[in-house]
Amino acid sequence: MTTTTAGQTTGPEDNPLVEGLERLPVHPTALVIFGATGDLARRKLLPALYNLAHEGALPERFGLVGSARSEMTDDAFKQMAIQSVREFSRRAPDEKVLAKLFADTRYVIGSFDDHEVYEGLTDALDELDKTAGLSLNRCFYLSTAPRFFPVIVDCLGRHDLADREHAEVRVIIEKPFGRSLEEARKLNARVLSVFDELQVFRIDHYLGKETVQNVLALRFANNMFEPLWNRNYIDHVQITASEDIGIGSRAGYYDSAGALRDLVQNHMLQLVSLLCMEPPVAFEADAVRDEKAKVLRAISAPRPEEVAQMAVRAQYAAGTVAGADVPGYHEEEGVPEDSQTETFAALRLEVHNWRWAGVPMYLRTGKRLARKVTEIAVTLKPVPHVAFQAPQMSTGVRPNVLVLTMQPNEGVSLSIGAKIPGSRMAIRTVNMEFLYGTAFLSQSPEAYERLIIDAMRGDATLFTRNDEVEAQWRICDPILKTWETMPWPLPEYPAGSQGPAEARNLLIGDSRWRMI
Ligand code: BG6
Repeated sequence: MTTTTAGQTTGPEDNPLVEGLERLPVHPTALVIFGATGDLARRKLLPALYNLAHEGALPERFGLVGSARSEMTDDAFKQMAIQSVREFSRRAPDEKVLAKLFADTRYVIGSFDDHEVYEGLTDALDELDKTAGLSLNRCFYLSTAPRFFPVIVDCLGRHDLADREHAEVRVIIEKPFGRSLEEARKLNARVLSVFDELQVFRIDHYLGKETVQNVLALRFANNMFEPLWNRNYIDHVQITASEDIGIGSRAGYYDSAGALRDLVQNHMLQLVSLLCMEPPVAFEADAVRDEKAKVLRAISAPRPEEVAQMAVRAQYAAGTVAGADVPGYHEEEGVPEDSQTETFAALRLEVHNWRWAGVPMYLRTGKRLARKVTEIAVTLKPVPHVAFQAPQMSTGVRPNVLVLTMQPNEGVSLSIGAKIPGSRMAIRTVNMEFLYGTAFLSQSPEAYERLIIDAMRGDATLFTRNDEVEAQWRICDPILKTWETMPWPLPEYPAGSQGPAEARNLLIGDSRWRMI
């Protein structure tokens, strides 16, 4: 709800701009979450299910089965699910919707390599079918530590859970998809020995973000940007995914991953592919993914001797974030004293194709930076001739920058040169802004809401195909391998800062990193 200047309250239903935000029907489905008591399930998946239910987007007949190792009854799991929604949902839950959503929820306890788990699941799923009076589609969501992905997939195959007559069976696999190209290939071979590619949904939650999908809308629903979208007009691109948070309680995972595996290999390279892809013939899974895969293939994997010039890594030291003193990475609980895991990574890449040759793509991500911001900034080339010759007139003439902000303040802003009012012809940069919140008067759904429902509908457009995952690893692998052989300690940056000074070395010419 928003209050207008006239004092009326309006909701999305009164806003003509939200037309078209309707939901598509979904076949009756049972969703099984492996790792159902874990952090991701509690913070994201269960609240996402609630919000889908709240909007009437879940199928009429929907069943949820949680599975994990924690000792719990069906009822205790239900209570945990309700509590998670209360704590983490983007909207305050309606108690009736909440109670209905989890009324028939089941819980199957056990370790993921134990065949009793799969027998329990089979019973629970059969019962749901019986109550529904038809074979529900089945979605298995692997929200576990990555080492269980192949185990679960094998067991699903062995217990005849990977396909079903008169119903669709799908498997949703969380990130990280392997730790290297080799591991990703092995995992993929295991997955595809049980499931068909059409059944596999590899999650990259950035693709579920409204503002990430808006990159495609901006490019392909408007005629004004596409003619400029190439090496003739674009000087360089900067993609930032900075976070102010540290690693919290995730040392176990994070210290074995690091910034490059955690964010660059997946989310950031997906942003590059959306930004650089050719127009797809249709907004359909393979048409879109074919074009994205071509971009990833056009980014050459660096040779070991190139890594030092095109990649920078660093670790945060103690510092101050939002006025509070915070420890350095080595002082975080669970991080080994001599850890060489990077908490910051910056890269300079190039897409070697006709459209993008010669345009540097700068990527940077890190924990404990000055603030949380995810944005793509496209800087155009300077005007070829500055006609305002007198001193001071032209000082304000700057290249245009188009900034697509994914978070916070989701929107698009274009900087343009404008005349400063007065008798002199002096120029200054001003911004034209579009803000999601203001334009659509509605809160964007969380990424997981969109992705869960798309997987249930069998639409893989916003999921990463195997060749994309492998192409992403092909770019990151040589960097990781070279870093392993490079001298340490790593460069440091104070928590709450703009990142390490070394990142400047990646920039060509007069380019500067944008302020975080
Ligand atoms: C996850 C990473 O994939 O993305 C986290 O594992 C990171 O380390 C998170 O914090 C960032 O996602 P978002 O949606 O908050 O930008």
